[in-house]
Amino acid sequence: MTENDFVSIGTLALPMLGKVCWKAPSNIALVKYWGKKENQIPANPSISFTLDACATTTSITYTRLEDSAADFQFELYFEGELKEDFKPKIHTFFKRTEKFLPFLKSYEFIIETSNSFPHSSGIASSASGMAALALCLMSIEKEINPDIEDDFFYKKASFLARLGSGSAGRSIEGDLIQWGSSLHIPNSSDLFGIHYPFEVHRNFRNFHDTILLVHKGQKTVSSTVGHDLMYGHPFAKERFSQAHKNLDKLKSIFASGDLSGFIEIVESEALTLHAMMMTSLPYFILMKPNTLEIINRIWAFRDATKTPICFTLDAGANVHVLYPESAKEKAIQFIQDELVAYCENGHYICDRIGKGAKQLSTTIG
Ligand code: DP6
Repeated sequence: MTENDFVSIGTLALPMLGKVCWKAPSNIALVKYWGKKENQIPANPSISFTLDACATTTSITYTRLEDSAADFQFELYFEGELKEDFKPKIHTFFKRTEKFLPFLKSYEFIIETSNSFPHSSGIASSASGMAALALCLMSIEKEINPDIEDDFFYKKASFLARLGSGSAGRSIEGDLIQWGSSLHIPNSSDLFGIHYPFEVHRNFRNFHDTILLVHKGQKTVSSTVGHDLMYGHPFAKERFSQAHKNLDKLKSIFASGDLSGFIEIVESEALTLHAMMMTSLPYFILMKPNTLEIINRIWAFRDATKTPICFTLDAGANVHVLYPESAKEKAIQFIQDELVAYCENGHYICDRIGKGAKQLSTTIG
């Protein structure tokens, strides 16, 4: 498929008024997306577990304007409060998606959004937020054109979400989502996420992700700036090719249920991501002392008990502790006994693999 497959026919009758609502989850990458080309095209393919508990709920009330407006007309409420400072991001998103959603300037939108996790938790809401927004816009498009089929609906939602934030393209469906063109994955695309098409052993069903909130403050460097620093990065070429190799290696690991192989790739990916940050110019460090304490504790516990538990990191100091259902009791005990002490105010979130976004019912008013 190409971008042009997502351009809508803009001539159908536009409804006067309506409201749509979606709840979209966050996701955690196993092979990381870090570095991009123009138009939100990833420099390498990535794969993620869709999460369940960490999610954004967004509703859009849309009212048709008498005449199309010169610019996008919308208000944004975050957790019940009007948020002017969130508007530029949405405006950029509308600009990037206008070509694919020709009705955008024909409506006034009231966007109401909230997260299941505290805004100040250091958990990025861009993936779940952009996914929920993209799904709401797709529901409006489906009101206009009821012939849209489910498969296209979700593909285009992922395509649009990706234009808002790359990783958001992996937050539409569950439970293991791959995004970015790979020679060895049929139908993989730089434009949208797909269900991982190969066999996945039951060891990887119901995986858990306990998110340890090490540092709840604002990150010092945004992901967007970090991605840009991969241009001209001395190790970029090697890194992009390593991501391809890691994705290939995961095929037999997922099929056979090889938890040790999984752990090796996932931890290496997390550390490589941060190594890229530490070796870019300007260089920066997003891990905190407690991030390292937690990593060392996990390694010592795994060595001593042979429990298949590991960590991954996103672009921040928080640690995602991953473990299979079979290790749940031991892992939770260990987290409570040894790791919670390193979390800011002892805060952590118990999450697990999820099935993807859900549409919620709405009433206007
Ligand atoms: C480290 O998707 O937040 O979480 O496309 O600029 O919005 P933008 O970046 P974003 O980058 C996520 C980076 C990551 C790795 C990953 O999720 O694959």
